[in-house]
Amino acid sequence: MKRALLIMAAMTTLAAPAFADEALAKSKNCMACHAVDKKLVGPAYKDVAKKYAGDAKAVDALATKIVKGGSGVWGAIPMPANTQVSEADAKKLAAWVLSLK
Ligand code: HEC
Repeated sequence: MKRALLIMAAMTTLAAPAFADEALAKSKNCMACHAVDKKLVGPAYKDVAKKYAGDAKAVDALATKIVKGGSGVWGAIPMPANTQVSEADAKKLAAWVLSLK
């Protein structure tokens, strides 16, 4: 019983950062246009993670695009600039998106 509790506690700790970043994405309005596993206005975050798997520069490039906006990678609809997002939060969000599988 004690052991089960410990395992559950460990799992909660491991899972917490992912939830924290999804909460951040929600609070920054990202989830108005994006979902984790299906395309809305913008691409599914899992598809973004697949596209840039193994690309070491992707976190920085995506963080810049999150703040400044951009177009032409996923289709004709551009992503508007998200000026409410700080550079540090943009990096956190980019790293979270890239960690999704
Ligand atoms: C108004 C709708 C909208 C909002 C709000 C929005 N996005 Fe996007 N996002 C898009 C669209 C459309 C694209 C595809 C752009 C393209 O094809 O280059 C995109 C692309 C992306 C990409 C992939 C970029 C690439 O070059 O491959 C990431 C990562 C991303 N968005 C993250 C975010 C995050 C994080 C937020 C919140 C701060 C956010 N988006 C808010 C519409 C949106």
